[in-house]
Amino acid sequence: MKQKMKNFYFLLFLEMLILLSGCSLYNNNDKSANTIRIGVALYTQDDTFISSIIQNLEKIAHQTENEDLKINITIMDGKFNQTKQMEQIDQLIRRGCNFLCVNIVDRTAASVLIDKAKEADIPVIFFNRQPVSEDIERWEKAYYVGSKAEEGGKLQGQIVLDAWLNNKNIYDKNNDNIIQYVMLEGEPSHQDTLLRTEYSVKTLTDNDIVVEKLASDNANWSKSQAVNKTSEWIKQFNNSIEVAFANNDDMALGAIDAFIDAGLDVPLIVGVDAIDDAIKSIKNGKLYGTVKNDAYGVADTMLNLILSLYNDEKIDLKLKDGHYLWLPYEIITIKNA
Ligand code: BGC
Ligand code: CA
Repeated sequence: MKQKMKNFYFLLFLEMLILLSGCSLYNNNDKSANTIRIGVALYTQDDTFISSIIQNLEKIAHQTENEDLKINITIMDGKFNQTKQMEQIDQLIRRGCNFLCVNIVDRTAASVLIDKAKEADIPVIFFNRQPVSEDIERWEKAYYVGSKAEEGGKLQGQIVLDAWLNNKNIYDKNNDNIIQYVMLEGEPSHQDTLLRTEYSVKTLTDNDIVVEKLASDNANWSKSQAVNKTSEWIKQFNNSIEVAFANNDDMALGAIDAFIDAGLDVPLIVGVDAIDDAIKSIKNGKLYGTVKNDAYGVADTMLNLILSLYNDEKIDLKLKDGHYLWLPYEIITIKNA
């Protein structure tokens, strides 16, 4: 055979291998191979908490596989762009995925996406970024897996409340019996930004603590943005910040860096997620506490849901309101880190 011909056949062979892996083309109804094809669409791959969910998902899927069952996972990075993510969803559907797991870029864009899944009759599981209930209710095979944002906020407030009541002499720097605080917020319209922000502070005021907000701003879940914001605030408020709330750990760790860079003692700082670096920081006495956002639980619950649907065991599912699977948050401080 001429070399050119050989190359051609080799490429053809490679192409076929690629098609056979992941969500392959045109095998939508092929259950004979007992392969579950899961298409995962992420708002960005560049997010500590989301990466942890995906690592867990891949690990648990691998552990679940056996001779009779293969699980293929195809991951798409939406790069913060909803239009791009919609194209990726189309692609995953065309490639024959049996299930979609969607970490939607823009929570308000879910209805179009659900309609696409419905038309193709592919169950769609949203996670971490919660669509509004009217959207989820469009179709009985649309689900949401996550934690209740307001509960995360309440527990974060509880951590600060306990610390303040037990050690006011340390944390009330100016002895005025008022908490001077700053708030580092996630992305503007994320449910976790809105509700964690509201309920963390509400827990304090509900318990008759007087608070004074010095400043708040969006640092979009990002550590580096949080360093910049906090550095500005440190200059502006001359070391009078007593508490820094952060909607997630990455931003809390950014705030800690800003205080250290400024040569100041780290005040009472709390985050949410319980990522590895946050646990380390708690053990090092820098981060006061965090609220565990269950990355493993999200992955495990999605996979269980998929397996139940695949095996047609829908009756066993403990769905709330027909669509929701909720995971609890948990307080983490030095006591249990
Ligand atoms: C997490 C953040 C994460 C965000 C992404 C939140 O629940 O706490 O760390 O960046 O979800 O959507
Ligand atoms: Ca004070």
